[in-house]
Amino acid sequence: MTNTESQEMRHPPVFRKLHGLIMWSILLLVVTGFYIHYPFVDGQGFLMSLARGVHFLFAGVLTVAGLARFIMMFVGKNRDWKSFIPTLKDFALMPKLIAHYLHLCKEPELSKKYNPLQMTTYFMVFLFIIFQILSGLALLFPESFMAWFNYGIFGNEYTSRIWHYIITWIFVFILLIHLYLAIRQGRGNEAEDIKEMHSVNTADEKE
Ligand code: HEM
Repeated sequence: MTNTESQEMRHPPVFRKLHGLIMWSILLLVVTGFYIHYPFVDGQGFLMSLARGVHFLFAGVLTVAGLARFIMMFVGKNRDWKSFIPTLKDFALMPKLIAHYLHLCKEPELSKKYNPLQMTTYFMVFLFIIFQILSGLALLFPESFMAWFNYGIFGNEYTSRIWHYIITWIFVFILLIHLYLAIRQGRGNEAEDIKEMHSVNTADEKE
């Protein structure tokens, strides 16, 4: 099996496309969000309208792509929800995994598509996306059907806005680490990848 075939099975084309949509949406939401928070270029009001327009468009793209990916975790031949839920057995691998990321040892043998650090991060990313959608809707409709979010949970709209902003910085942090690890993994040893991927898929398909 070639490496391309193994990557295709590990990340089917539809998952790659959704990953691309989600990644570009978050990138554009971060940039336009920072501009809305603090207009770093004087755009005579035009840039602010453009930033808000792009923000709302990709808020929609992120919501649809995120929902599609969530559904495909549970439905279809590529369903992979187990790859996002770390178990105690997975967490037991954490110390060795962190040592591996610190270049102190080889990557520990994995029993799933992702390692426990990836599983935990991707699980949190889905929760943060859900929070950004809810808090974003609460900023769009503060007094109507999302009033429960602003006043019921945070007491006022301003605090929801601040949390919408704080989570943006968490996305920036995760994006930078994800990029570094993705580049580093790309240079990783293919043989191990194929072996790991092969054992994973047979397990999943037995489900
Ligand atoms: C990863 C996803 C997202 C990021 C990183 C993000 C980031 C931001 C940031 C940094 C701001 C400025 C907040 C401030 O004023 O301090 C903002 C404003 C806003 N965002 Fe988002 N956002 C995201 C998703 C969404 C979604 C899904 C929606 C809608 C459903 C949304 C709706 C809004 C609204 C309505 C505002 C206020 C606009 C204004 O004050 O004119 N955002 N966003």
